[in-house]
Amino acid sequence: RHHVLSLADFTPEEYDTVLQTAASFREVLSRRTKKVPTLQGQVVANLFFEPSTRTRSSFELAAKRLSADTLNFAASTSSLTKGETILDTAKTYLAMGTDMMVIRHREAGVPQAIADEMDRLGVRVGVLNAGDGQHEHPSQALLDLFTTCTLIDSDRPRLELLKDKKIAIVGDILHSRVARSNIWSLTASGAEVHLAAPPTLLPQLFADFTTNAPGKLFLHWQVEPALENADFVMTLRLQKERMTQHLLPSLREYHQRFGITRDRLRICQPDVKVLHPGPVNRGVEISSDLMDDPQFSLIQAQVTSGVAVRMALLYLMGSSKA
Ligand code: CP
Repeated sequence: RHHVLSLADFTPEEYDTVLQTAASFREVLSRRTKKVPTLQGQVVANLFFEPSTRTRSSFELAAKRLSADTLNFAASTSSLTKGETILDTAKTYLAMGTDMMVIRHREAGVPQAIADEMDRLGVRVGVLNAGDGQHEHPSQALLDLFTTCTLIDSDRPRLELLKDKKIAIVGDILHSRVARSNIWSLTASGAEVHLAAPPTLLPQLFADFTTNAPGKLFLHWQVEPALENADFVMTLRLQKERMTQHLLPSLREYHQRFGITRDRLRICQPDVKVLHPGPVNRGVEISSDLMDDPQFSLIQAQVTSGVAVRMALLYLMGSSKA
């Protein structure tokens, strides 16, 4: 695969290739010298038109661990402020010899538009979607998949490990690109995926989100049916910056009705684990004590997985250039 823009058309074989490659890089990262020469001489440009802590830093670290040269761009200090277009920005990085572009933008479709432009120019530059608007965040869903699968089988993480699992995704589904990418990967695994949110944050159209997927998708406007016997609970941030209308009850009321707490987890499987892509609104979508509780929380493990998974993606995209 030349670009990674969406998980909608990912095949089970591709998921397993990413998971197995990430497991190899996790082994590299456990060594004293955490670096391999795989992408020596290649240039990875991180073009972030929207803020990020985890995704941007872990792509940068992943590229460095693969010995690539990295270029970092932040919109606020770039020539975008002087009126340069996004495509001209991408072409500027292309002219410097960039081999792979990692793109985040607040509008859906920008990574696709840049990928289309690279293809039109006939250059083998791989484009990776690092989160576009409400559309998708494929590397986040892949690191979530790696985190859950390695918990079940650390040595051989693979998609089928989630086949009989129940996974609850709770929170601001409407605005969540993380939820959209996770719905593709989790339903592809055959898992039961239960979405829960207030009706304003979970429109009925999500019921038709996946067709012909081996897994099943259920919608709930209360949290309890989603949590009952769940193996994994993924909480999502309320994206206040994307809310143009009064979509929410008060944050206090939201926490009372949908916030994930230790008490709420009592109806899940006894060994339930909690994920959150971050950044977290402590005390809103998840209680602060649960977030820090190593018995339940996989939040730091997700961040750690992110480096190995992003190394795998850059490596596989770099190999596809050969
Ligand atoms: N999960 C995630 O995308 O976090 P950042 O916005 O910090 O990159």
